[in-house]
This record gives sequence, structure tokens and C-alpha cells, in this order.
Amino acid sequence: MSEEFYRIKRLPPYVIAEVNAMRAAARAAGEDIIDLGMGNPDLPPPQHVIDKLCEVAQKPDAHGYSQSKGIPGLRRAQANYYARRFGVDLDPETEVVVTMGSKEGLSSLATAITAPGDVVLAPNPSYPIHTFGFIIAGATIRSVPTTPDERYFESLERAMAFTVPRPSILIVNYPSNPTAETVDLAFYERLVAWAKENKVWIISDLAYSELYYDGNPTPSVLQVPGAKDIAIEFTSMSKTYSMAGWRMGFAVGNKQLIAALSRVKSYLDYGAFTPIQAAACAALNGPQDIVQKNRELYHKRRDVLVESFGRAGWDIPPAKASMFCWASLPPALREMGSLEFSKQLLTQAKVAVAPGVGYGEDGEGYVRIAMVENEQRLRQAARNVKRYLQSMGVNTGPDRKAAGN
Ligand SMILES: Cc1ncc(COP(=O)(O)O)c(C=O)c1O
Repeated sequence: MSEEFYRIKRLPPYVIAEVNAMRAAARAAGEDIIDLGMGNPDLPPPQHVIDKLCEVAQKPDAHGYSQSKGIPGLRRAQANYYARRFGVDLDPETEVVVTMGSKEGLSSLATAITAPGDVVLAPNPSYPIHTFGFIIAGATIRSVPTTPDERYFESLERAMAFTVPRPSILIVNYPSNPTAETVDLAFYERLVAWAKENKVWIISDLAYSELYYDGNPTPSVLQVPGAKDIAIEFTSMSKTYSMAGWRMGFAVGNKQLIAALSRVKSYLDYGAFTPIQAAACAALNGPQDIVQKNRELYHKRRDVLVESFGRAGWDIPPAKASMFCWASLPPALREMGSLEFSKQLLTQAKVAVAPGVGYGEDGEGYVRIAMVENEQRLRQAARNVKRYLQSMGVNTGPDRKAAGN
């Protein structure tokens, strides 16, 4: 009997879990930790959505198995969202599937379309499911940069030229978790042309579709004419409507990929609890003022974070989108590495952040700061950080740049 399980052997220790465990222990010991580690929204969903959940849960016939690919009304609601937000036309029957969170959708798709040894192009740094969903399914990952510049396209070309077997799948995630980088439609136009020429499927993760702060709405890859020939895209209700615990997401786009995903899901699950799906319909079809309000709230938090941490001696680049800021370690402490720095912030400053190395080797030297505490707590975090930096002998004064700090 082997105790060395093939898939488990391919999973390295989850670095972020180490910091999470330390945070949980500190909290259990009664410490007040300002938690900017996990991307777990602290805001409630809209009241009418909660009301709809309760109303439908009262119905005696709402408690059986649901439909694995999602109830028809919810698939229609998602198609309508794509039509009004992106001008993209989708057939709710063949081009939309409801998933139990986009994370489940991504991993089920990986199971559906990956053969052992397939090469998947994934960004580094990236949200872990973008690589590990495929590694669990038996794939080999070839990393490409996350930053969507000329070097990105050069690395795609190199990957095609030098990898055997040729890569067959490309993952994109903009706005990026963890780097908060964004793209414009011209980027997707070039990417779709490249993918068609190279016969590569595009899997786009658009979890942060509604959290953008520079006035430019985040595009969808499916806005490119003909993208549906090769692309599937995931969205999530977790961040848009602060419904992370409800586990509600979607995949839309290419019919073959949607069919493969639906087929695997039909073996794995019976769909989300019907009252949750009905409430998700209410969120998508109902008033959207909460989406704008949350966008403004995260925008304000971002400004407070950048301003107060800057005054504390740590310069944080303002995120253009998503709910994260991606910050390089203060230069004087760079040697420490992102894991040790995150541990010290937790124990010395009582502030939890996510170490960049947890998102891939190219995340080393950075930490991800989630804007999931209110403005007052963010300012408190900045004060704590300042005390910690000073205790480490870091120059936190306005002359720090000249001094190399
Ligand atoms: C880029 C990205 N994709 C997917 C997810 C998972 O979202 P869901 O809650 O829909 O599974 C997250 C969650 O943080 C994310 O950041």
C-alpha cells in the first residue's frame, strides 16, 4: 500500500497557510490582528439578495438536488450581465454554466480538459488555483510573466518554440490577483490573434470585473470578435456582491469548453443550493447601486492605504483595480524575503499580509495587501507598521528615498 499519493506529492507546502496559521494562533491568544491577508470581503451582500435567499429557503420544494449546470433563470441572468456590461451575446443554454465559486469552476475545467503531461501557460506570480488546478489534473506548468507588456508576448513565443509538447492552454487573469495589473482591449485583441494562430485555448479569470478605480471599466476577453472560438471566461459573485461564502461563480464562452466543464460537473456535483441560485439571480437582475458603492469604498480604502503607509515610511503603489495592493518590501528589509517579512509584520506590527512568494517564485520580494478592513483600521495598521520599521532601524522619514530606503 503506497502512502505516497501521486497528486499530493506534486503539491508543495502552501506557504500562505503558514502565515494564516500564525494569524489564527495570534487571534486565539486574544491579540487584535489587523487582517489584510486574505481577499475575504468584510462587507455584507445587498439586503434584497439575503431576503430572496430566506424567501426561497421557506419553500418546501426548494431543498432537493439542484441542476449541476445551474438553473435556467440564473444562466439567463448571467447572459444578460454580459450583454449589458460588455456587449457580448451569449446563449444561456450552451455558452453559460454556473459554478460553485469560480475556484471550483477553474479546477473542474482543469480536470475536464487536461491530460497528464499537457503543458499549460500560467502567469507567475498568480492566484494558486491557476497553476495548482492544472497540476492536480496532471499538467506541467510553464510560467509566463504576469506583467502584460512586450516581454509577456516574447515569452509566449519562446514557450511555443521551445516546449514539447506544445502548450495547449493559456491562463490569463486581469485585473490580476496578486499584482492588481490590468489590461485594455487591445491586449486581448493581440492575445486572441496569437492564441488562434498557435491553437491554444484561453482561460480568462475575471473575478475582479467590477473593481476598477481609474474610470476605465475592465474589459472581457470575449469582447474581441471571434474570441468565443478559443476562449472561456470565469466571473465570480464573491467580490462583486460580497458573496464569497455563498460559492457562486460562472463560466461563459466557447461551447466545447462549456460542454466539457458541464460534463465533468454533472459527475461531480448537483449544483448549488437552489435558494442561493435564486438569490444570485436577484443580485444580477436587481439594482446595481451596491456595485458602484463598493467600488467607491475600495477606491477610498486604497487611497487611505497608500497615503497612510507612505507616511509610515513604506511606499505602496496604488492598485488600478482588484481589492489588493502589491507592494515590494521596504528596500532596507528586502534581504529578509517576503515570508519572513510577513511573519514579522504579524508578530511585531499585528498586521497580516500575504507573502508574495506564496504566489510563485516571481512573487518573492513583494507582499499582497488586501483592502478588507475599514479606513480606521488601515490607518491603525500604518501606525503599527511605522513603529515596526523604526524598531528595525529603517529610515521612515521623507528623506528615505535619497537614503536608499
Ligand atoms: C483571481 C481570482 N480568481 C478566483 C477566485 C475565487 O473566487 P470564488 O470565490 O468565485 O471561487 C479569487 C478569490 O480570491 C481570485 O482572486
